[in-house]
Amino acid sequence: MLDTPSQAVGDVRLQSFRVAYDYPVVFTLEAFSPGNRSLIDVLARREPHKRHRCLVLVDQGVLAAVPGLCHDIESYAAAHAGHMELIGAPVPIAGGEACKNEPDTIPRLLELLSRRAVDRHSYTIAIGGGAVLDAAGYASAIFHRGVRHIRFPTTVLAQNDSGVGVKNAVNYLGVKNLVGTFAPPWAVINDSSFLEVLPPREKRAGMAEAVKVALIRDRRFYEWLERHAHDLARFSYPHMSDLIRDCAALHMRQIGQGGDPFEAGSARPLDFGHWAAHKLEQITRNGLNHGEAVAIGIALDTRYSVLSGHLAPGQDDRVAALLERLGFTLWHDGLRQCDAQGRPDVLKGLSEFQEHLGGELTITLLAGIGEGVEVHEMNEDLVARSIDWLEARR
Ligand SMILES: NC(=O)c1ccc[n+]([C@@H]2O[C@H](COP(=O)([O-])OP(=O)(O)OC[C@H]3O[C@@H](n4cnc5c(N)ncnc54)[C@H](O)[C@@H]3O)[C@@H](O)[C@H]2O)c1
Ligand SMILES: [Zn+2]
Repeated sequence: MLDTPSQAVGDVRLQSFRVAYDYPVVFTLEAFSPGNRSLIDVLARREPHKRHRCLVLVDQGVLAAVPGLCHDIESYAAAHAGHMELIGAPVPIAGGEACKNEPDTIPRLLELLSRRAVDRHSYTIAIGGGAVLDAAGYASAIFHRGVRHIRFPTTVLAQNDSGVGVKNAVNYLGVKNLVGTFAPPWAVINDSSFLEVLPPREKRAGMAEAVKVALIRDRRFYEWLERHAHDLARFSYPHMSDLIRDCAALHMRQIGQGGDPFEAGSARPLDFGHWAAHKLEQITRNGLNHGEAVAIGIALDTRYSVLSGHLAPGQDDRVAALLERLGFTLWHDGLRQCDAQGRPDVLKGLSEFQEHLGGELTITLLAGIGEGVEVHEMNEDLVARSIDWLEARR
């Protein structure tokens, strides 16, 4: 009689394949002046002899600041008619966190993509801040199971952090980024002329992410930020563009070479300072923007790093001083908001962070300037003392 496999195991066949991703991140100026080939080159990168159909979605905040933008895009498409064809006029999208909070945003975008007959060989091109890019990126990732998507980030934060990455999301059931996908873009075009019209508050916000990535990965970049804090606080060029390029490069390196681009594990080093930041955005009902909340989250976790014995005393003051020189306020009364038991609401950010990632709680702290370290528990008492420290610095 033939041996039969164990009844309990059954028949297992391993399916296995790999998919490689690459996408250009282009730094340019005046991307829609007819002589600029950045967009044409990324459209034609894999299919040089085709006329590419493009649906353009534009953040209304950007349109208000650059009223001639739609006209410029139409003229650009006309000047390059051999390579690109607009699928109707560019479409305005309400900007800011509201577009991620509004439950109608995604159904409306999907309906638009359907009405304009976007197919899997067409491109959606989103121009805007991180919020519009997140919403447009998500709709593009799920429509027809994913259409080609090009991002034009228009804020400092989107150009040096969110826009160059592989994620998108919208907020749902009151939870930040509850629904989204990992979907690498076709290309990213960082046009620094958009930053000229960006309000100062938004320019500053993006610098928090540069401090974050410098602190966990690159001491030299951190020291550069300290040396140029005065120029950066005035948003002077070329310092701002250097900050954006270096910060974007560090994010790209972490995503491309960090070994976990789609965050299957529990660690998320690029989210240093973010467990508190995400909660603060929610507690303040977005009264603090993402970057402002991240600055507070960085200061909080840096102080915690000292109190928990990971980081040398004094480095917390050093980091807080840099953030303050860049113009951040490291306090919000929302840090004092407590539940009925007297527990600070911000602490709920820890369990929400773990729930979002799954697996073991993994928080990045600092072991030195430029050196992140992972821990798997946070002492609530030390968090409370870190909050007291922030309040005392006011
Ligand atoms: N996907 C990711 O990996 C990732 C990473 C970090 C942050 N994010 C998300 O990014 C969002 C924050 O993005 P943000 O900081 O870019 O802000 P934002 O998108 O909220 O934009 C802020 C405001 O600036 C306006 N605006 C944008 N560009 C402008 C310009 N050039 N001129 C004038 N006004 C302009 C917008 O209309 C909006 O009112 C958050 O939702 C955050 O969760 C996503
Ligand atoms: Zn962030």
